[in-house]
Amino acid sequence: MKNITFLVTMTTFLAILSTTAASWGSWQPIKNLNDEHIKEIAGFAVQAYDEQASGRRPPLKLLKVESGQFEGVAGGKDYLLTLTAVVPREGSRVNLYETIVYENVSNQKKLLSFKKLL
Ligand SMILES: *[C@@H]1O[C@H](CO)[C@@H](O)[C@H](O)[C@H]1NC(C)=O
Repeated sequence: MKNITFLVTMTTFLAILSTTAASWGSWQPIKNLNDEHIKEIAGFAVQAYDEQASGRRPPLKLLKVESGQFEGVAGGKDYLLTLTAVVPREGSRVNLYETIVYENVSNQKKLLSFKKLL
């Protein structure tokens, strides 16, 4: 009886462990792109990218998050988002960008990359 209890406990433990581990080191799709938290991360990415330019070009205007993935990393998560944004000075042209934002467990964000796709 004791062995069965142990086995059940271990199986449950391993099941929980594998669920947690699933988001570690591999990108998982973000199902709800309209989630406020995802919008917040996209907004942060555009803002941080604009801050890097420090006035050398007009700020981008975030249009929409087109797709997204996340990955569990040490101390938080990495978010890989593809988004569209308007470039005001270039005749309101819409560009596609890919960005990676790290967010730690205290919701502190850091822009890791931001590049134009087309
Ligand atoms: C999250 O990042 C901020 C800013 O870098 C840092 O001050 C804070 O300690 C971090 N929190 C954790 C739990 O790592």
